[in-house]
Amino acid sequence: MKMKVLIADKFPEYYTNILRKNDIEVIYEPKLGEDDLIEAAKEVDILVVRSTKVNAAAIENASNLNLIVRAGAGVNNINVAAANKKGVYVANCPGKNAVAVAELAIGLMISLDRRIPHNVADFKKGIWNKGEYSKAEGLLGKTLAIVGVGNIGKEVAKRALAFGMSVYGKDISRIEGVAIKDFDEMDKILPIADIVSIHLPLTPQTRGLFDDKMFSYMKPGAYLINTSRAEVVDEEALIKAVKEKNLRVAFDVFKDEPEGKTGSVSSPLMELENVYVTHHIGASTEQAQNAVAEETVNIISKYIESGVIAHWVNKAKITEQMYQLVVKHYDKPGVLASVLDVLRDADINIEEVENLIFDGGIVATCTMKLRKPATGEMIEAIRVNPNVLTVSHVAM
Ligand code: 3PG
Repeated sequence: MKMKVLIADKFPEYYTNILRKNDIEVIYEPKLGEDDLIEAAKEVDILVVRSTKVNAAAIENASNLNLIVRAGAGVNNINVAAANKKGVYVANCPGKNAVAVAELAIGLMISLDRRIPHNVADFKKGIWNKGEYSKAEGLLGKTLAIVGVGNIGKEVAKRALAFGMSVYGKDISRIEGVAIKDFDEMDKILPIADIVSIHLPLTPQTRGLFDDKMFSYMKPGAYLINTSRAEVVDEEALIKAVKEKNLRVAFDVFKDEPEGKTGSVSSPLMELENVYVTHHIGASTEQAQNAVAEETVNIISKYIESGVIAHWVNKAKITEQMYQLVVKHYDKPGVLASVLDVLRDADINIEEVENLIFDGGIVATCTMKLRKPATGEMIEAIRVNPNVLTVSHVAM
């Protein structure tokens, strides 16, 4: 039977056709919303979304669902907890739209400095105001703080350096080949930053990060750009800071952003003179969407061919202490079963296991991550099997 893939957001036709050629039944329904997915995803094996919300009901109701691909970076629109409960893989396409988001962030910086949207709006109204709009400062030599230096933050850094800005970033260890300075604490960098650009994923740690306290650190008149997630900024605190500290703000995301692609919009940010908002278009260049679509096709093809999930985001990150048991053995039926018997009798759970075979197929090596340590007696019990060559056991 053909594998069924539902694409519930806009996706380039070229890549939809590649999936179809791979003997996959592709259902392309770009206008589906959160509530529609409960019915629409019911019988599909793979679901592809951009920002359309995938809630717990949609996941619970989808009896064949095995993989959700986020055709983009942030997975906060997917109820990952519900996917975990059912063993549904969630994957994303990290970095593929980073350049597009960085280009928008830089565009917003220039827009704030030159007040381009105001310029244009006045022109359309028949107002000429060269006097007022000649008051821009320029970006050369300005201090930019990049909060969140992942794929996107790094691309912003490269462009800002080319503009002659002095660039600071949090998370220096993740930046290779980009000469930007590290900073430890927000209370050190925010007071000296002329421009702050946020590039964080939405996590429990980043939700509401920009609150009254953070705004109190910011320089009066500084520029704040957010092309990441609305929830990283406390909107009430932002509005207060815009009024009290005269911040200039440009956001591509905002609270209660509409789910649909067109319609009306309402936000308290509309009332604020120095706040520009774009329509969550950071990733929406043709280049970025093609790169994301190509990666989505790669993820699906690899999964179908080998069962391996590239960019698997809901794989557990093992943080507690683990013990690694490596058993090198002749590759014969029953050898691993004897090892597992020893672990089961000791009530030890295997958290991860991988069995790889040496060239020639005579010997294999099995690596297991254990929750509890194996005792000397257990290792001996494994070793007595004549088909076991070596056993090693270390704490990790
Ligand atoms: C992302 O996380 O990749 C961006 O926010 C893009 O969202 P979009 O696919 O809805 O444009």
